[in-house]
Amino acid sequence: MNKQKGVIPSTAQICAHQLNWSRCSFTDDFGRIREQLPLCATFDVVIASDCLFFREFHEDLVEALSVMMTPVSGIALLFQPARDGTMRAFLELCKDLFVVEVLEDYFEELSCARDMYRVESTTRTPPARVSPSNGYNDDIHFPLLCILRWK
Ligand SMILES: C[S@@+](CC[C@H](N)C(=O)[O-])C[C@H]1O[C@@H](n2cnc3c(N)ncnc32)[C@H](O)[C@@H]1O
Repeated sequence: MNKQKGVIPSTAQICAHQLNWSRCSFTDDFGRIREQLPLCATFDVVIASDCLFFREFHEDLVEALSVMMTPVSGIALLFQPARDGTMRAFLELCKDLFVVEVLEDYFEELSCARDMYRVESTTRTPPARVSPSNGYNDDIHFPLLCILRWK
């Protein structure tokens, strides 16, 4: 969230807290956050990036999201590459609670950059200054957007 760039008004109050979503720590961490935000016991929007790679914490993260998201209207925006099936495995666990939407082209600049990297990584005779293989791989590098809404 870039307050300096004017995306968020300078009058907005922003605070940061550690939140471990593992079952053993989540209740304590989220409890401390709730104590400081008494009027905001749940969140209308939860944003997470690159947090679905850890299969062992998938169940805990679904549980944590379900506690944090405002009932009925709350949403979660999760950005991450598909990364070896980890994203799909997580979404599979979400299906009982949430309606899941997966978007690839949600931000024009990002899609343009992806298209450029794809071309570069497959060019056999690359133009000067472009390496024959830049190592780009959608599965590893391109962040898909998953939107979770309550069922
Ligand atoms: C791949 S990094 C993502 C970094 C993030 N996109 C960023 O730009 O800062 C994954 C993050 O998830 C955190 N993480 C992994 N398991 C966690 C858990 N159970 N609770 C809280 N954070 C966890 C790691 O500490 C790490 O910071």
